[in-house]
Amino acid sequence: MIRLGIIGLGQAAQLLHLPNLDKMEDMFNVTAVSDISKNLTEYIANKYHVTNRFTNALDLIHCPEIDAVMIMCAGDHADYAIAALEAGKHVFIEKPMTYRLDKAESLMEVKQNHPDLVAMVGYCRRYNDSFIKMKELLQNDSRPISYVRARTIVLEGPWYLKNTHEEKKADDLDPASRDIMIKRMFNEINEIMGGNATKAQMQTYLAITSSGCHVLSAVRELFGLPKAIRSAVISPTGMQFTLIFEYDGFNLTFEEMNDQEIVQFDESIEVYQGTRKMHLKYDTPYIRYLPSKLTVSELDEDKQAKVTIYGPQYHDMFGNELKEFYRCISEHDRPKCDVFDAAEDVKLYIDVAKKIVEGA
Ligand SMILES: NC(=O)c1ccc[n+]([C@@H]2O[C@H](COP(=O)([O-])OP(=O)(O)OC[C@H]3O[C@@H](n4cnc5c(N)ncnc54)[C@H](O)[C@@H]3O)[C@@H](O)[C@H]2O)c1
Repeated sequence: MIRLGIIGLGQAAQLLHLPNLDKMEDMFNVTAVSDISKNLTEYIANKYHVTNRFTNALDLIHCPEIDAVMIMCAGDHADYAIAALEAGKHVFIEKPMTYRLDKAESLMEVKQNHPDLVAMVGYCRRYNDSFIKMKELLQNDSRPISYVRARTIVLEGPWYLKNTHEEKKADDLDPASRDIMIKRMFNEINEIMGGNATKAQMQTYLAITSSGCHVLSAVRELFGLPKAIRSAVISPTGMQFTLIFEYDGFNLTFEEMNDQEIVQFDESIEVYQGTRKMHLKYDTPYIRYLPSKLTVSELDEDKQAKVTIYGPQYHDMFGNELKEFYRCISEHDRPKCDVFDAAEDVKLYIDVAKKIVEGA
C-alpha cells in the first residue's frame, strides 16, 4: 500500500485522479492533501477522510506519513518534484513536467542521485489502450509511413463540466495573488522564448505545454523527435497554430485550436501508410468511462477494402497510468513516461518556440 500525498486539489485532482484513487484502495491510500486554498484543502480532506492537510506543499512533501507525492497544482512542477525526490519520496508529476529546459535538467540530475525512487510523468494518453494497440500494429508492420496528421481541438471542459460534474473551486484566494502567478508564468515563458515574445507567441507556448503536449508526447513515443521543424505558423491571437515536423520519409502535421465556441473534443492521431490508414480518436477525459477505439482501414491481399475496429476499450487511461505508477514502485521498475523521457518533450517545446519566434 502506497501512502500518497497530493499537491493541488483543482479540476485534475477532483475529476480525474481522486475518483480513481478512491477505487484503488489496495494500491493507494491518500494520506495527505495540500492546496494554497485552505477551504479547498479542508473540503477535499473531509470528503476523502484525509487527516494530514497543508496549505504549504513543502510541509506535505516532508510529512513522514507519505511514501509518494502527486503534483498537480497550477504552474511549473519541477521545484516540488525535486523537493519530493530529495525528501526520499516517489513522485508522480502531472504534465507538463516543466516549461523550462534548465529545470528539466536539474530534475534529471536529482533523479540520477535517487535511482531507487520512481519519478513518473502523467502523459495519460500514452497509457490509453488504443494508443498502445496502435504502437503495437506499427511495430509489427514494415509498410513505410507516408504521412501523419495529429490534432488537439479541445474545447469541451467548461461546457461538459457545467452539465455533468462541476468541481469545487477555491473561493478564498486573493485574486491579486492569482494575477501575480499568471504574470510570473508569462515572464518565464517570455524568457524561454528569447525575451521579446509577443503575447500571441506566449499564448501558443502555453497551449503547446498545457493541452497540445499530450498528443505531441504520444507521437514522439511513436516516431521519436523530428529531424527538423519545417514550419510553425500561429494565428494573430496565438490560439490556433499548425506545426509541420520532418521525419525520415514523411512529414507530420500537428494542429491545435483553443478559441472556438462549439463544444468539441477532437483529439486524434492518423497514420497513413499507402495501403493502410490508422485513426486513433481520443475522447474527453472529463466524462468517465467513455471508450476509446482505433480504426484501421486497409486493402487486403485481394485489394478489397477492409476496416477493423479495435475496441471499444473501457479501461480508464488515468487508472492505467496509476496502476503503472504502483507497479513501478512495487517492482522497482522505470515507467516509460519518466523525467528523462519528458525532458525530450521539453526540448521539443523549446525548438518549436524558437521556430515560432524565428518565423514571425
Ligand atoms: N492529464 C490530464 O489530462 C490533465 C487534465 C487537466 C489538468 N492537468 C494538469 O493538472 C494540473 C492542474 O490542472 P487543473 O486543471 O487541476 O488546474 P486548477 O486550476 O483547476 O487547479 C490547480 C490547483 O492548484 C492549486 N495550487 C496553485 N499553486 C499551488 C501550490 N503552490 N501548492 C498547492 N496548490 C497550489 C490551486 O489553488 C488550484 O486549486 C496542471 O498541470 C494541468 O496541466 C492534466
